[in-house]
Amino acid sequence: MIRDTTEREAMIRALKLASEEWRRSFDALDDVIMLISPDFKIKRANMAAARLLGMDIHAIIDSQCHTVVHGTNAPPPYCPILKAQSLGIYSKAEAFEPHLDRIFNFSAAPIKDDTGRIRHCVEVISDVTDARKNARESIRLSKNLAESFKGITEALSGLVESRDPYTAGHSQHVAELAVQIGKDMGLDGDDLEGLHVAALLHDIGKAIIPAAILNKPGKLSEYEWGMIKQHPITAYDTLKRIPFPWPVADVVHQHHEKLDGSGYPLGLSGKNIHLWARIISAADLFDAMTSHRPYRPRMPRDKAMEELTRGMGVTYDEDVVHAIQNVLKLDDMRIFVVDYDNLVLQGIMDEIKIEGIEPSGFTDSQTALQAFSDNPAPLVMTELTMPGIDGVTLTRKIKELNPPTEVIVTASHYSKSDTLRALRAGASDFIEKPIDIVMFRKSLHRALNRYAAKITAT
Ligand SMILES: [Fe+2]
Repeated sequence: MIRDTTEREAMIRALKLASEEWRRSFDALDDVIMLISPDFKIKRANMAAARLLGMDIHAIIDSQCHTVVHGTNAPPPYCPILKAQSLGIYSKAEAFEPHLDRIFNFSAAPIKDDTGRIRHCVEVISDVTDARKNARESIRLSKNLAESFKGITEALSGLVESRDPYTAGHSQHVAELAVQIGKDMGLDGDDLEGLHVAALLHDIGKAIIPAAILNKPGKLSEYEWGMIKQHPITAYDTLKRIPFPWPVADVVHQHHEKLDGSGYPLGLSGKNIHLWARIISAADLFDAMTSHRPYRPRMPRDKAMEELTRGMGVTYDEDVVHAIQNVLKLDDMRIFVVDYDNLVLQGIMDEIKIEGIEPSGFTDSQTALQAFSDNPAPLVMTELTMPGIDGVTLTRKIKELNPPTEVIVTASHYSKSDTLRALRAGASDFIEKPIDIVMFRKSLHRALNRYAAKITAT
């Protein structure tokens, strides 16, 4: 009897100690832990609950969970206890609680008895407000950083090109085309960003080559050619010091390598050349061929494409060339030019012809609209002020007939509200007359690339 009493007392002491240990353990945590009954009453809670709710722990016990935590008359739809009770599974949710002005992570698990019946739910509530705020702040900072980084990259590439009017916009065009090719080949997100940066910087090594050599009309001497061939190495030596999140230095280093190993400076071949370098190499050649240089005229787009196709699988990557063909949709590069002034119309058309594209000209917007509805073109350039259907109305009708078509509005006399009206009607660009040729060319390229991107995306 005496032994039984002693054993019983020892057991009670052990139980009390265990209960005290569990209580202290739960109270030591920052996260709220509560035992919830099937009718959503708080049966037990740790000290973190008292701190979070600003209530005495005794007042919390037997209160409705949703009343004290959410400040509502019923559990909110995201309440994980609802799922834990009805489905018998562990469930969690994150929500902002206006009642407490904090963001919480709620999780609940069912507690079953020996027969499998759900008796209670244990709920853990973690305050994640600071973590979410920090995450938002770091996203904001990295966005700012990415924007500054983009600005610096563009400025650097623009600085090199500013020395030479003939290559103005070249890197930008190559970068735009490279991204389109990359998209067509299945690259996305971060890879496209890296490809864009590498393409923008591909020629920065030319910064130390005298413009007279870069644009020399005649044959280059061995020494001069040696200088030209140095530019990927100069670029590599400069870029390798910048901790890019992409292999920009290597890609730029390899942008003159050729599939058969006949390129420079490393003589790499096949897949040893980085895919981005293979893309930039083809985009670079295509843009160079279709641009005017002091030592040779522009080549029409279809002829440039033939040139690339000839080198397909030998000097240029087959998949890359196929991607360029897809992107450019060379068979549909028609442009409608609408201007009531025949002289201006012919001037614009001559500029477009130099690009290797045969435009269709109209001095009457009604005829242009009829022709367009018969066979929509990828790009329409229209004067703003015209008798009959004006440029804004024409833009709206064209976009209604064929939404992917790009419209560029040109005007000599206009107000700010005209520009807004044209853009609202669907125009993607507004060019002031007299037309600046460099601006015009950029705008044309961008519009055709945008159209190609829209078509490839569908
Ligand atoms: Fe180059």
